[in-house]
Amino acid sequence: MPQNEHKRLAAEKAMDYLEDGMIVGVGTGSTVAWFIDALGREPGRIKGAVSSSEQSTQRLKSHGIEVLDLNYAGTLSLYVDGADECDPHKRLIKGGGAALTREKIIAQASRQFVCIIDASKQVPVLGKFPLPVEVIPMARSLVAREILTLTGGQPVWRDGVTTDNGNLILDVHNLTITDPVAMETALNQIPGVVTVGLFARRPADVVIVGGDTIQVL
Ligand code: A5P
Repeated sequence: MPQNEHKRLAAEKAMDYLEDGMIVGVGTGSTVAWFIDALGREPGRIKGAVSSSEQSTQRLKSHGIEVLDLNYAGTLSLYVDGADECDPHKRLIKGGGAALTREKIIAQASRQFVCIIDASKQVPVLGKFPLPVEVIPMARSLVAREILTLTGGQPVWRDGVTTDNGNLILDVHNLTITDPVAMETALNQIPGVVTVGLFARRPADVVIVGGDTIQVL
């Protein structure tokens, strides 16, 4: 079965977590696109969605789903999003699609975070996927130098990419993240860092892994 089909299966399983009339937090990426399409098949079922990116907003709206401001929506019961890597403790690397800041805000605002991935995203230790860090443009090289000193990893500017918040992305290569909470905390302290793509302090609550069979962790 192709990888895209595994993503679709994980996304459709996440529909089990939906309750009628709820406002759903919606992440970003190719797996979430399948989830949005599944929501689109039952448009009256939810009250609306809080979106983590312009990309997801457009897709939600194309299905007639109302997109709401998080400041209006308050605490959300459910957030559904993908990931780039997931360890056995449901800690994640996210930000491959550059939407990490809004994703982290929505994850924090949600009581339940259901992460939908295909089996290729499961790793014993995080770090093989380059860790995305969103930075304020004027701090780009300062943050890169600090990250190098602090972690030994190699920060690479994702050239040509501007986030939905008008910032830049550094992708940090060659990391073996044995203590994701400590690394997330340390990198968060560097002036100019907006968001670190480690979701360890607030990991996923449920991980749905699509493969030839579906696993719910
Ligand atoms: C977006 O910035 C990322 O955090 C996504 O969650 C991630 O890249 C999703 O990957 P897929 O496109 O494989 O679902």
